[in-house]
Amino acid sequence: MFKVHAVAAHRLPHLLRAMPKAELHMHIEGSLEPELIFALAQRNGVKLPYASVEALRAAYAFTNLQSFLDIYYAGASVLLHEQDFYDMAWAYLERAAADHVVHTEMFFDPQTHTERGVSMQVVIDGLHRACVDAQTKLGVSAQLILCFLRHLSEEAALETLEQALPFRDKFIGVGLDSSEVGHPPEKFSKVFAKAGALGLHRVAHAGEEGPPAYIWSALDVLGVERIDHGVQSIHDAALMTRLAQARVPLTVCPLSNQKLCVFPDLADHNIGALLDAGLCVTINSDDPAYFGGYMNENFVQTFAATGLTAQQAYQLAANSFEASFISESQRHHWMHELKVCFERFVEHDD
Ligand code: ADE
Ligand code: ZN
Repeated sequence: MFKVHAVAAHRLPHLLRAMPKAELHMHIEGSLEPELIFALAQRNGVKLPYASVEALRAAYAFTNLQSFLDIYYAGASVLLHEQDFYDMAWAYLERAAADHVVHTEMFFDPQTHTERGVSMQVVIDGLHRACVDAQTKLGVSAQLILCFLRHLSEEAALETLEQALPFRDKFIGVGLDSSEVGHPPEKFSKVFAKAGALGLHRVAHAGEEGPPAYIWSALDVLGVERIDHGVQSIHDAALMTRLAQARVPLTVCPLSNQKLCVFPDLADHNIGALLDAGLCVTINSDDPAYFGGYMNENFVQTFAATGLTAQQAYQLAANSFEASFISESQRHHWMHELKVCFERFVEHDD
């Protein structure tokens, strides 16, 4: 284990911002800032039910997941053309690079767009072009994960996977998102089996608002490699043991959990308990334009509220590379860079 020296509290935010990290749980449609929503609405002649950027932002007072999703899907209605998807992804990738995110696996929700008559090709080509540019222009490796909307049917998910197959080389996996309670993972057993047979990675949101039983079925029925959120696992001791022993990563999103009232007070978040239990926890931004912050804001605010240590900062960044779908050589490279970053930081301690 890499031993991290104690760091003075006032210097910890600098270390959190500077360390290289991977982001594994963010919805690209959740990176649409109100300003970009209005700019795209004007460019595309889309009428919004909000008079101004300020009025839209004022509506971001969420009480639970569904109250957020209603506004999030409305915001995505301004996306029509390939360039719109590129512009949205590029804006996020520039922000990610500024936060020293060196690798990101971005969720996208094709059904939100294909249901409005936008083609799968427009969606994937625009997002993928931004991913290619991120590598060459920002030095950030970026990949796409196609999410099925769980409030829709499995037949619709199967049809979506079919539509995406001509672009199989432009996304690395599938996920499951949207309204969790009442839509258990096993509803999607066939489509996940098909994705697995195609060699796609599999992840699923589970245990955000839903019960530990949904985490069990995501693992055992869908065969997922990571659990998105998973914070409700704390209520099931046998599940905690399983997650720790198998090193199943949890992609935790602290500011999201706060804004959607999973943990209304960030100081009460269970991330420290999950880490103490030996789980492979990572920190992520989920929907940064809606929840008040990108990656570094999530790190800095969570550490300030919960008192996590520099050793835990190292662990969280190391976990993000362990949990990511990068190659072994990339993983080795970033683990080395992470250690170099921490060693340099300690050398310059006063
Ligand atoms: N889609 C976008 N953000 C989500 C979240 N936090 N949970 C489920 N579905 C989502
Ligand atoms: Zn999410």
